[in-house]
Amino acid sequence: MKTYEYADYVKAAEIIKEKIKTPIELALVLGSGLGGLADEVKHPLIIDYRDLPGWPLSTVEGHKGRLVIGELAGRMVLVQQGRVHFYEGYSPAEITFPIRVMQCLKIPSLIVTNAAGGVNPSFSAGDVMLITDHIGFVSMSGFNPLNGRNFDQFGPRFPDMSQAYDREYGSLVRKAATRTGIDLKEGVYTWLSGPSFETPAEIRFLRTVGTDAVGMSTVPEVIVARHGGMRVLGLSGITNKCSDDGEMKADHQEVLQIADIIGPKIIRILYEILPDM
Ligand code: HPA
Repeated sequence: MKTYEYADYVKAAEIIKEKIKTPIELALVLGSGLGGLADEVKHPLIIDYRDLPGWPLSTVEGHKGRLVIGELAGRMVLVQQGRVHFYEGYSPAEITFPIRVMQCLKIPSLIVTNAAGGVNPSFSAGDVMLITDHIGFVSMSGFNPLNGRNFDQFGPRFPDMSQAYDREYGSLVRKAATRTGIDLKEGVYTWLSGPSFETPAEIRFLRTVGTDAVGMSTVPEVIVARHGGMRVLGLSGITNKCSDDGEMKADHQEVLQIADIIGPKIIRILYEILPDM
């Protein structure tokens, strides 16, 4: 499985650093179908992933492959428009390469978004969920992005994960949702490998162990972000309800369609919270 040297991260970061004038305050990772958020960035500087050595290229519909750097709600942001996934055959180190580059750029905060299936029966397609914690089935079963030699430049061998999702950021999101009348859900996000969607038995299992939403991303990025000391906010767009009785099918096109409804809600929340983050 592909791994990196510290110098690989620095090399990509240097290319970005040469193009920017002011320090980046926040990084945003956009999930499936949520790429439209990048259009909100003012005076954007666009960097194609292909121009950044080491950067993995996404193969999935609904994922672009570029960085959009500029101003959003008065803050200097770096938007990662498109990510790669474990099911595409990428290693956890490749999936989290962008996060390491962000850390080389000294970006202190990360907002991760994703499309997820609603396992909690009270969730509906179109909901936004604040991620309060996660279960990393893939990382728990041996594919932790921190496996292998520790990069002491970024963080400790055994990083704490007791508060992976920043509580202050969470309360900003709750307040923003109240102000804007968005019916915000919250809960635990579980990372599965995919690409097959879950069987009804798997959904019942996930519910039993405390999953509220399930998806195929985010957790490796958050582990690496926390290892490197970034503060993290996670938002899931619930694109479909997960069926525990086999009476509903999951479909990627549907995921992308519903993401179009969720995008504006997440944009609304971001405009409210970014000035205070
Ligand atoms: N399962 C896993 N990942 C997903 C789903 C789902 O139902 N919906 C969007 N991403």
